[in-house]
Amino acid sequence: MENFQFHNPTKLIFGKGQISSLQKEIPAYGKRILLLYGGGSIKKSGLYDKVIRELKEMDASVVELGGVEPNPRLTTVRKGISLIRENQLDFILAVGGGSVIDCAKAIAAGVPYNGDVWDIVHKKEKVLPSSVPIGTVLTLAATGSEMNGNSVITNWEENAKESFNSIHVYPRFSILDPELTFSVPRDQTVYGIVDIMSHVFEQYFHASSNAPLQERIGEAILHTVIEMAPKLVNDLSNYEYREVMLLNGTLALNGLTAMGVNTDWATHYIEHAVSAVHDIPHGGGLAILFPRWMEHVAATRPEKVAQLGVRVFDLDPAGKTDAQLAAEAIQSLRAFWTSIGAPTNLSDYGIDDKEIELMTQRAMINEKIGKYVPLTNEDVRKILKNSL
Ligand code: NZQ
Ligand code: ZN
Repeated sequence: MENFQFHNPTKLIFGKGQISSLQKEIPAYGKRILLLYGGGSIKKSGLYDKVIRELKEMDASVVELGGVEPNPRLTTVRKGISLIRENQLDFILAVGGGSVIDCAKAIAAGVPYNGDVWDIVHKKEKVLPSSVPIGTVLTLAATGSEMNGNSVITNWEENAKESFNSIHVYPRFSILDPELTFSVPRDQTVYGIVDIMSHVFEQYFHASSNAPLQERIGEAILHTVIEMAPKLVNDLSNYEYREVMLLNGTLALNGLTAMGVNTDWATHYIEHAVSAVHDIPHGGGLAILFPRWMEHVAATRPEKVAQLGVRVFDLDPAGKTDAQLAAEAIQSLRAFWTSIGAPTNLSDYGIDDKEIELMTQRAMINEKIGKYVPLTNEDVRKILKNSL
């Protein structure tokens, strides 16, 4: 293993009716609140009214910023920063999926920063400890943003979708009530499932040695998702399926399986580049790209893909080479994602080869991306072409 430190300060508040914890959790940070939410799902589901009721009961004064986009935009982050500065707000309550939470993190980091907030995302300028505290009410199992320090922001004008990470933007608390995810439509539920599995893959395919426990934890998450997903997509309001998926999503990207290993993340860089140019759902992009990435790396390093096949997809290794097992593993993954309704090709989103160069260039944040197998420009171009 690599040397590592683990510090996750987010308080997780999990279960039915936990929205009432807002009154207990928020006052420690102040009562002047920016309420941040997305395009309206929380109004349709009735969650907005519940949150407003809770905030009224604690005599909070509330400024609202709705309309945070899926793949949240820098322009919305800037609006949020202005609102907090103008109204001298103390706290951000993010109610929604990963996009709303990521937007909250960028706003939080941008408020005390003297320059342009894009410098924090793009140039990795330091995030200050005086960043505005955040709390979240999660409505969609997918990103793990509710219990990590990552934020992914889209600068649409520059076709750039990039991320930053800081200990200062971890949510102080996150409320996870499975019932709040009942209204997530089938397609978004599937994208969430693909994202959760992809987060495990990004960390499972690492460049370090001797990490059997981290790998076994990752495999346990994958097993649980694979068992639960087909049931969930056919019974979207089932509390038990939703609660299991919600916890899967959080544990897949809260640092647990990344301890002591150099994680890959190349497929995420490529997906962010595709979304930056074509604005497609993150999980949809991953469903298309991950099998192609696996095929690409299996050509030189099939062993971990083979391990995944044996341990997660129950392949019989008798008499087979790693290359054969890897090919079967990728086939199993494809079949599984197709069976729950995930997209398979970029053309499903109307994407053709016109922007391959721009997407390749956007994915290459460094000379090489990826750790399990470092990828060059040419590798990324090939993966994208194979994904058309
Ligand atoms: O905007 P509203 O109206 O709320 O609708 C959203 C949105 O249209 C809807 N939705 C969310 N909860 C719902 C619901 N609809 C009905 N009922 C509910 N309970 O779902 C749509 C997608 O929401 P979004 O927040 O965009 O989805 P997700 O949670 O998948 O977040 C995706 C974003 O997170 C980034 C992605 O790149 C993308 O920008 N990521 C963030 C990460 C992180 N912070 O650690 C890691 C990930 O790898 C990822 O890159
Ligand atoms: Zn992801």
